[in-house]
Amino acid sequence: MHVDIIITNIGELLPMDKRGPVKGLEMSELTVWNNAAIGIKGDTIVWIGSNEEATILEASQIIDAKGKLVTPGLVDPHTHLVFGGSREKELALKQQGVSYLEILKQGGGILSTVRATQQTSYEQLLDKALFHLDRMAMLGITTVEAKSGYGLDRETELKQLRVVKQANETHPIDIVSTFLGAHAIPPVYKENPEAFLDEMASLLDEIKEENLAEYVDIFTETGVFSIPQSRHYLMKAKEKGFGLKIHADEIDPLGGTELAVELGAISGDHLAVTSDEGIQKLANSNTIGVILPGTSFYLGKDDYARAREMIDAGAAIAIATDFNPGSSVTENLQLIMSIAALKLKLSPEEIWYAVTVNAANAIGKGEVAGTIAVGRKADIVLWDAPNYLYIPYHYGVNHANTVMKHGKIIYERQEIR
Ligand code: NIG
Ligand code: FE
Repeated sequence: MHVDIIITNIGELLPMDKRGPVKGLEMSELTVWNNAAIGIKGDTIVWIGSNEEATILEASQIIDAKGKLVTPGLVDPHTHLVFGGSREKELALKQQGVSYLEILKQGGGILSTVRATQQTSYEQLLDKALFHLDRMAMLGITTVEAKSGYGLDRETELKQLRVVKQANETHPIDIVSTFLGAHAIPPVYKENPEAFLDEMASLLDEIKEENLAEYVDIFTETGVFSIPQSRHYLMKAKEKGFGLKIHADEIDPLGGTELAVELGAISGDHLAVTSDEGIQKLANSNTIGVILPGTSFYLGKDDYARAREMIDAGAAIAIATDFNPGSSVTENLQLIMSIAALKLKLSPEEIWYAVTVNAANAIGKGEVAGTIAVGRKADIVLWDAPNYLYIPYHYGVNHANTVMKHGKIIYERQEIR
């Protein structure tokens, strides 16, 4: 057989070939192939076998993995990719003990990024999004979810969503778009959050027609949107054919996890302070818990999601960066894998499901991302690591050696010598 590319001498190959969402105990069953090889034709994986069998292949290009770990491209299922400005001055406020919700109440936090995003042009926002996408690609991420939510008005929300759409068309990384118009209450609507939600809901038809988002999300939190407001708003989105997500139980345990299950949301995200009942409901549902331990870390919280208990109860868990300019300022999903090991006490096997199969399923891409199999698009990472235990273990740096998206190499580590 003739192929375009063959990757030989793979030390450990993680095919991540279980159909997701992978729940509970199944998250600790990992297939590992040693001394494997992969054949790629065009953008597709056409052959997987042992290194010895690979001699039957003729290839235009041979990539010698030299014993490295090879996995599917990582999937980051929760980011706030498009925003104007930055908020480095808030770090000092945080050090003085001013809380995240207090900063928001004073018109800072999300609202300061909203002002910056309103003032940033479409082209500048696009450039900035592409910059962050490049960094994600270098870090081994080949599929990402991106939320709006720094507009809070018709014009700016649509601007953000159109930036996401163009970034998806321009950049090799695949982007799944989520409308998060219900991210904060703009000051003019302070006394009337329902009217603001009505305004955001009035954009849904336009968003659908222009194909600007697949999911609708809301920040269900004290001082932001209540459970009844969230339910009402999300039900409208569901009727219009959007999938649902919720920023749930991040700071106060309002019951957003339970609401995500009740409404059949594809994911409930954060879940840092989910109740016992919420954990049980999540475990008995098809809703995926998208856990964001980098946010707990960055906000200096002791409340890490009880992901260990969630999995033990039978839930499907994914992890994500929550990349945004306020509560988790990093594109590095590898770092989040380490925090998941150290703070959530997830096993390496669970962590790999959480950034591949389950992450893909949490954004409706289970059939196209997160798995290495014959017939799948070639989204593949070669890591400077001898085995899969190594990535969460050696923390805070980039281990990606070569990143391939749809059969094309989009990143290769350079030697400086
Ligand atoms: O997921 N919690 C709400 N939204 C984001 C933070 C956004 C921001 O601070 O700019 C989050 O943590
Ligand atoms: Fe978020």
